[in-house]
Amino acid sequence: DFSNENSVLNQFVLEMRDVSIQKDSMRFRKNIERIGEILSYEMSKTLHYKTEVVKTPLGEKEMKVPETDIVVCSILRAALPLHTGVISFFDKAENAYISAFRHHADGDDAFEVVVNYLASPSIEGKTLILTDPMLATGKTLENVLKAFKSHGTPKQIHILSIIGAKPGIAYIQDKFPENTHLWIAAVDEKLNSRGYILPGLGDAGDLAFG
Ligand code: PRP
Repeated sequence: DFSNENSVLNQFVLEMRDVSIQKDSMRFRKNIERIGEILSYEMSKTLHYKTEVVKTPLGEKEMKVPETDIVVCSILRAALPLHTGVISFFDKAENAYISAFRHHADGDDAFEVVVNYLASPSIEGKTLILTDPMLATGKTLENVLKAFKSHGTPKQIHILSIIGAKPGIAYIQDKFPENTHLWIAAVDEKLNSRGYILPGLGDAGDLAFG
């Protein structure tokens, strides 16, 4: 949804991928947070705006500000620093958290995504921002969407992610409603047999939180 061919964003993603730099978990988390801020800024350009008149000590000025009701939802746990970045820009947003993990049966490559926790305000008529640093198969986001069914219908959905694999992106475009927009810092080609992004960066949750 945006162009980042030449931007400092690439430096942050490179540091997250690099095996010798990504071990620094504080830098890893900070890079996720900084990318959350950049993606929020890019995404903000597509929101609905209203005009307000601001009084300065020396006069008045008309300015456009976003008028959307926003709910930011992060998928535990790797998305936590992304959430921090997003709400540092959308500081009036409501907040939601959801859990998701992969359940492998007997060391099998195949897995199911289990969602067993969702705390959220109503999303009816609001802008829902879903944050997750990795979009691999897209199964997590599909299950997150299902879990939100009982919380209302959002006006639009924005998915903010750091690395997205092409098969997962296609899966999401198929499963999510039309008013869904993807904001992804880097797109990778494929997945391995266990559903990890190649070349990706490894396990974002472990790198951020051990
Ligand atoms: C990772 C990542 C996503 C999910 C993406 O979470 O943070 O939530 O996998 O995969 P998918 O698109 O194939 O569903 P992980 O299971 O590593 O959990 P963690 O963040 O708690 O470590």
